[in-house]
Amino acid sequence: SLDVSTLTRQTGLTALDYGFVNTASTKSAITYIDGNEGILRYRGYPIEELAQNSTFLEVAWLLIYGELPTADQLGEFDEKIRRHTLLHEDLKRFFSALPHTAHPMSVLSSAVSALSTYYEGSSDPNNPEDVELTTLRLLAKLPVIAAYAHKKSIGQAFLYPDNSLSFVDNFLRLNFGNMAEPYEIDPVLSKALERLLILHEDHEQNASTSTVRLVGSTGANLYASTSAGINALYGPLHGGANEAVLDMLARIQESGEGVRRFVERVKAKEDGVKLMGFGHRVYKNYDPRAKLVKESADEVLAGLGVNDPLLNLAKELEQIALEDDYFRERRLYPNVDFYTGVIYKAMGFPTRMFTVLFAIGRLPGWIAHWREMNQDPQVKIGRPQQLYVGSGLRHYPGD
Ligand code: ACO
Repeated sequence: SLDVSTLTRQTGLTALDYGFVNTASTKSAITYIDGNEGILRYRGYPIEELAQNSTFLEVAWLLIYGELPTADQLGEFDEKIRRHTLLHEDLKRFFSALPHTAHPMSVLSSAVSALSTYYEGSSDPNNPEDVELTTLRLLAKLPVIAAYAHKKSIGQAFLYPDNSLSFVDNFLRLNFGNMAEPYEIDPVLSKALERLLILHEDHEQNASTSTVRLVGSTGANLYASTSAGINALYGPLHGGANEAVLDMLARIQESGEGVRRFVERVKAKEDGVKLMGFGHRVYKNYDPRAKLVKESADEVLAGLGVNDPLLNLAKELEQIALEDDYFRERRLYPNVDFYTGVIYKAMGFPTRMFTVLFAIGRLPGWIAHWREMNQDPQVKIGRPQQLYVGSGLRHYPGD
């Protein structure tokens, strides 16, 4: 690899790289991906082992602090996060200013920006204690904000967190519980959500993480950087793809056009239609997360007693695409978003909450990268070059 900034200084040459296809913006010790082999590791640990054996908070610790926590460290981390789940009562009123039709991702990013206004004296990026506190506050409060965005959209009352529950169970209760009766934990639901959250925790320099780092490189605090990351995740080419996949499957089903006809339209690039949940900038092989999600889909739907024809439709679509030269030549495989939506739907989440779930999962990765960036003495403000292609000097008429 080449240190382009030195080369640029020495030669005056600028590399034009739309989409940063070949430009590394940083060194990082957090996540390793081999896109050709379909390998993903967090801090050296294979994603398959973590998804099988770990918990969301344990993996969050691993990403943020670099090692697996001891039982005591994990217990203390969990305890501290439970203590930070409450939102300021005024912030709860913030939700009533937004229309109930608001997309929960817009609500989420706005509320995280608003959250920072409550902690202006304790969010200094250069103060390690503030960074630690902000880490805990974000991890504890993002799921609560997300659940309130959901409740708001369906016109139901917000619940206070129940801090006797685990991270995942607390979140499920805040979404699906109500004031009238106790919430019953469904272990199938908890296990499935824990696994999906782990699979989303980090993915090195994806668009939202790069956004978090870029905003953070200006000296902005972790709330502002995270809010920016949520907005970057919202787009359908990134985290918004999980919502787009379900919409696509539902449209194929409702239109009755058939999977093969739809695939033909994708190949013809008719109206720019894409096979959502397929393709990846880095993976030119099966996304290892998609493999695990696919394995979970049958198990979770069976465990929840849900029979959704959209799962069969998704499998048929995958099968046809993987046998087709268009997808083979371009090395397009299902990505993490292809099967997650079917599971989230079976759990009872509305389609518009899917990307919010991705954001909760991705938060530890954003935090880990922001902190790594913040500690790196080599990091400079992110400031890409451009190649100017506009007009040369011209003069205002009459001058
Ligand atoms: N359906 C149909 N064709 C596709 C798809 C797709 N999903 N993805 C890529 N292609 C085609 C492109 O049209 C292009 O074809 P061409 O050579 O004839 O012009 C070729 O494959 C290469 O694609 P690029 O757009 O250059 O690939 P890039 O790395 O820029 O894009 C991306 C990656 C954005 C993920 C793309 O594959 C895509 O739009 N996929 C659908 C959206 C999606 O699922 N996003 C989630 C990604 S995972 C994540 O963010 C969590």
